[in-house]
Amino acid sequence: MQHIQTEVIAVDPVHPEPQVIERAAKLLREGEIVVFPTETVYGLGGAAFQTAALERIFAAKGRPFNDPLIVHIAGEHDLEQVTPSLPEQARRLAQVFWPGPLTLILRRGPRVPGLVTAGLETVAIRMPRHPVALALIRALGSPVAAPSANRFMHVSPTTAQHALADLAGRVPLILDSGPCEIGVESTVLDLCSGVPTILRPGGISLEALRGVLPDVQPPIQRRVPGTNEDFLAKKAPGQLLAHYAPTISLLLFDGTEEIMRASMLAEVQRRSEQGERAGVLVANEDVPAFRESGALIQTLGNAADPAEVAAALFAGLRALEEEHVQVILCRNFGDQGLGLAIRDRLLKAAGGKVYRPEEV
Ligand code: TXA
Ligand code: MG
Repeated sequence: MQHIQTEVIAVDPVHPEPQVIERAAKLLREGEIVVFPTETVYGLGGAAFQTAALERIFAAKGRPFNDPLIVHIAGEHDLEQVTPSLPEQARRLAQVFWPGPLTLILRRGPRVPGLVTAGLETVAIRMPRHPVALALIRALGSPVAAPSANRFMHVSPTTAQHALADLAGRVPLILDSGPCEIGVESTVLDLCSGVPTILRPGGISLEALRGVLPDVQPPIQRRVPGTNEDFLAKKAPGQLLAHYAPTISLLLFDGTEEIMRASMLAEVQRRSEQGERAGVLVANEDVPAFRESGALIQTLGNAADPAEVAAALFAGLRALEEEHVQVILCRNFGDQGLGLAIRDRLLKAAGGKVYRPEEV
């Protein structure tokens, strides 16, 4: 790939400066790509109806073409251009959760290029609520296709610096509005195959979705026969298990707090005897237990507050990667609310493997 100069421009997250937005929108009009903030993670945007822009997105990320993109819209007019009609279920969800971190899988309209949908007859659509994202889509005047602004197989960026670390020299412009509010990607909900089913848990919880549509199904979780490996059934194309993998191997621990801490401590000790340094990804309340262990401690917030943990998760993973620890040991944060999304990302980072107390 040709090396290009990457410019990072600060933009006010609440009242984005019109001249900065216009500069980014001009690039998009010319078929270029731009990194921009959303409330979930930073996105790598291109004009959804321009094939050249879509090709640039895949090239910059190193992403395979069989992994479809989310189309970001700013209003009714954009919506009409990407899907023929809105089913009743979608209408009700959109009313409550748009703009916001919910992606709906709907029927694909004829204008949507096959590159966006990986050739599928469905399209992923979301209306983000971040003022910069909305301003950018409005300034372009048409939908923006955007995956997360990370290199393929890396964790999503929750700051402009994360995006720069992954995409420097590969994108002309990064809009920097500071850290993302939610910190995990949007919930992807399939409305095209009978019962509404979550394909990827994310920023809108299962409980919240069920408040509007009581029959929403969670992502199907299965255990690989004969092993202790869990994985979430991968109906969303490109939802590879290793999709969010950090560059260092991660072990995910289950069990009560005491058992989890004890087995993590035992593993820290075992690693240290082999000359390896472990990083632990834990909650505030775990810190005293690890203080004397020699492990590098990265806290994500209070275990009882999954929203706080979600917001810190990807930055925490990247911070441990930068410290060059040999292994990351991570506690479990439950599956209530945003906990389900946290667990999904951790499971992927762990290659689907979970250490349960009886197996330690
Ligand atoms: O929060 C987010 O969703 C962020 C921000 C930038 O909006 N975007 C994001 O995009 O996470 P990406 O490309 O990293 O993830 C998109 C997910 C993938 O898992 C993909 O398989 C799924 O959406 N997807 C896209 N189109 C689909 C379709 N037609 N059917 C099923 N799944 C689809
Ligand atoms: Mg992604």
